[in-house]
Amino acid sequence: MSRLTVNLPGREYDILSESGVLDRAGALLRPLLKGDLAVIVTDSNVEPLYAARLAGSLHKSGFRAAILEIPAGEESKTPAVLAELWEQMMDLGLTRSDSVLALGGGVVGDLAGFAAATILRGVRLVQLPTTLLAQVDSSVGGKVAVDLEAGKNLAGAFYQPSMVLMDPDCLGTLPRRELRGGMAEVIKYGCIRDAALFRDLEDLGGLEDIPARGAEIALRCCAIKAEIVERDERDTGERMLLNFGHTLGHVYERAYEYKTYTHGEAVAAGMAAAARIGVRMGITPPEAETRIVSILKQYELPTRIEAGAGDYARTLTLDKKSAGDAISFIVLEDMGRAKAVKLEKRRLLELIREAGL
Ligand code: NAD
Ligand code: GLY
Repeated sequence: MSRLTVNLPGREYDILSESGVLDRAGALLRPLLKGDLAVIVTDSNVEPLYAARLAGSLHKSGFRAAILEIPAGEESKTPAVLAELWEQMMDLGLTRSDSVLALGGGVVGDLAGFAAATILRGVRLVQLPTTLLAQVDSSVGGKVAVDLEAGKNLAGAFYQPSMVLMDPDCLGTLPRRELRGGMAEVIKYGCIRDAALFRDLEDLGGLEDIPARGAEIALRCCAIKAEIVERDERDTGERMLLNFGHTLGHVYERAYEYKTYTHGEAVAAGMAAAARIGVRMGITPPEAETRIVSILKQYELPTRIEAGAGDYARTLTLDKKSAGDAISFIVLEDMGRAKAVKLEKRRLLELIREAGL
């Protein structure tokens, strides 16, 4: 079993990765969780694959395990579904010493995480990520949220889990498109912090090689994320670097009403666009842009998504990394080194135009 610790004073937690860990979850969680009730929140795709194994392992360790299933997909990450979960948790008799277990991808993790943060003013949360994206990113760091009509993730909290348990075998059942999406975030870590990871990814054949290397890749990414979150849990400085590719990625997701492109696909095109803008600003070496475009192709990710000037203007106004008229835009100084540049939105829109995006 591989273990990493996220060292937040008074709220430290472990990330454990092991093949078959879902079957050992009960034993691993029993010393940590005081109450008897463990509410598993999962989605309609993950439930038939993994929920019974997790529930069985919890039962064996003396938990009363209940399963709450939401329809799979981003459409479930809403205040309405959150409110349903609250009511269902109360119907189950949840108390403050009980816990919520998020079994699934980032949608389940964010939604169940926000439910755990808010029900009874907060109960213990365990993240059991089953997508590559959730294993390398969303299950770690404590951002939980639901989407609003006005945009994604606009209502949420910082709420750290008590443990993250990941089973690399789950990647074996993941649809290829979801694996691709997760790779966008993996490539992002290479870009912003780990040139050696980027090189290792360049040396792999492509998507085919990922499930077998998933455990190692996820831990390398989680180590980077843990270090950043330890220094900037509340996202006021260094954590913004994780937003590389996301500012414009959000534009692309929204321009196509979250239907045409997955989050990862939009982030991929967002990274290529951010690299191009970085080159235009004289900050990013052209070679880094070339390598990013080429690795995105290697992992079957889009390098460009069309959007209109109105799409850019509308979404940038809502960006959570903005303060007043300024926006923190993440650019690469070199492969493996990123920085935030404060730009007036008007200037960023000009750069987007100048870069031919
Ligand atoms: P997702 O949760 O929708 O999962 C993708 C699809 O894969 C779903 O259909 C799901 O049912 C299915 N699935 C999950 N695990 C499976 C498995 N092992 N085998 C087969 N199918 C499986 O999407 P995602 O890409 O995991 O997460 C995207 C969400 O994460 C977005 O809402 C995004 O905003 C959020 N996010 C949050 C953070 C954070 O820090 N909290 C970071 C990045 C992204
Ligand atoms: N996924 C970005 C963050 O956790 O800050």
